[in-house]
Amino acid sequence: MKVIIVSDKNHMGQVAADLIETDMKNKTPYVLGLATGSTPIPLYQELIRRNQETGPDFSTTVTFNLDEYVGLEATHDQSYRYFMNQEFFDHININKDSTFVPNGLSENIEEVGKDYEKAICGIGGIDYQVLGIGTNGHIGFNEPGSSLASRTRKVRLTENTISDNSRFFERKEDVPTEAITMGIGTILDARKIMLLASGSNKAETIAKSIEGPITATIPASSLQMHPDATWVITEDAAVNLQLEWD
Ligand code: PGA
Repeated sequence: MKVIIVSDKNHMGQVAADLIETDMKNKTPYVLGLATGSTPIPLYQELIRRNQETGPDFSTTVTFNLDEYVGLEATHDQSYRYFMNQEFFDHININKDSTFVPNGLSENIEEVGKDYEKAICGIGGIDYQVLGIGTNGHIGFNEPGSSLASRTRKVRLTENTISDNSRFFERKEDVPTEAITMGIGTILDARKIMLLASGSNKAETIAKSIEGPITATIPASSLQMHPDATWVITEDAAVNLQLEWD
């Protein structure tokens, strides 16, 4: 694994955008795996700025988002489809028909999961998967205890995640309790992975994920098994690391 420690969130966005822009030159159509949450926003802002200036060009890019809440309409301002349109897709030259977010409104989520996996496979897999990390070490909505071989499926959110995400909702009771998420196995199939993190509240789980044992109790520790995973983390999120990383 590579660990890149950056000064602040803007720097994180620039480094992450560099990694993606460089990799995009190698392949068409390029397939990006995307994440929601507050962490990747500086990355999306940087990619929007670059797209509106000199590139990269997203006209043939295909995207797959990690996850979606169960039960929220795409027009709900806390749905992940809404987030992606607002924060990224509406501002770049991407074909919206090539942007995929799991459908959390389907009566048959199991089928949605299978179809999502087929769609990712059908296009030849994800080139670069962007991840955030929960304070409990989750990636996507793979909560602690998720199988390291899990695939796209419906999951129940932990109290920890509901409480973390309640800051975006009017009331904690409004946070959905279920979601559909790519599995850890799905994520690990990507050719490259970058995990972005900022803030001292993530420091403990980041140190455990990077330097601790691989365990389903800390889903992000599974990145240790990936041949091309890069962590881009701010200094305050890196304070608990003991080993030397460059
Ligand atoms: P955050 O969420 O970026 O809003 O901190 C990250 C996550 O839960 O994966």
